[in-house]
Amino acid sequence: MIDYTALTNETNKEGVIIMNIVSSTPLLEEARQKGYGVVAINCDTLEMIQAVIEAADECEAPVIVQTTASAIKYLGMNYIVSAIKTAMGQVKVPVALHLDHGQDHQLILECIRAGYSSVMIDASMYEFDENVRRTKAVAQVARAMNINVEAELGKVGGVEDDIVVDEADSVLADPDECAKFVELTDITSLAPAIGTAHGIYKAEPNIDFARIEQIASKVKVPLVLHGGSGIPEHQLKKCVALGMSKINVGTEIKHTYANTMKQYIGENPKVDDARKYLSEARTALKNLVKEKMELVGSVGRVR
Ligand code: 13P
Repeated sequence: MIDYTALTNETNKEGVIIMNIVSSTPLLEEARQKGYGVVAINCDTLEMIQAVIEAADECEAPVIVQTTASAIKYLGMNYIVSAIKTAMGQVKVPVALHLDHGQDHQLILECIRAGYSSVMIDASMYEFDENVRRTKAVAQVARAMNINVEAELGKVGGVEDDIVVDEADSVLADPDECAKFVELTDITSLAPAIGTAHGIYKAEPNIDFARIEQIASKVKVPLVLHGGSGIPEHQLKKCVALGMSKINVGTEIKHTYANTMKQYIGENPKVDDARKYLSEARTALKNLVKEKMELVGSVGRVR
């Protein structure tokens, strides 16, 4: 078991302990080694962050809170970092903070400076060489600071926030290219397109399990599954067993949060206390995240 306190705390010249948010690299490496998954949940509001951390605490599971560029715009980068640091003082489980689908080099650097412990550089819309160039530029800065770097190869279809990839344009990742990409860029986690898509699936997703197996045999860094919403349980478990270590969930989170609030307000049309419907939504979200933790096998991994 890793000593997470050693990873999170540093002492400055005056002997004051500085709380650093835990890097997702050791969390994911441990998950890859032991064959379970760590859930990475897209959060847009403070209540969502609270729900995710409460779920992790109750499940004794490591967790990654992730925000997109537009969530940062809405919530404020420093509010997000402060919320995670506050939570870290209250729970025993390790919490990493990740920038999801970072496409702007400047924003990625700002996140690192503000305290994010993990960033994604998504240059998957470019050709291989340009993807390598952009990814390497981020990895060079981030690795020196013990920040996890995730990049995507192939193209994951669907809608994720402001990023839309038409299903027809989605491309699966080539296992040999994956190995070359990791070697050239020095990233610490890889998100290969393997047949999942962002958003809700209309039919059972067409996941290429043989491809996951091939990629996992050639790539030693932890693998990231994008488009984790609505994947049938048996498929998700198989992805984890084959080596996907970070499981991203966004759309289901958004839907559960909004639908719970809508239902509460529908049943209590006179409600004027935001705490009432927000706490309903927060509890529903916490329960959903706990279910996901159970599914990927991360429950009880931090004791
Ligand atoms: P879903 O919205 O499909 O769960 O995907 C989330 C995701 O992969 C975030 O990067």
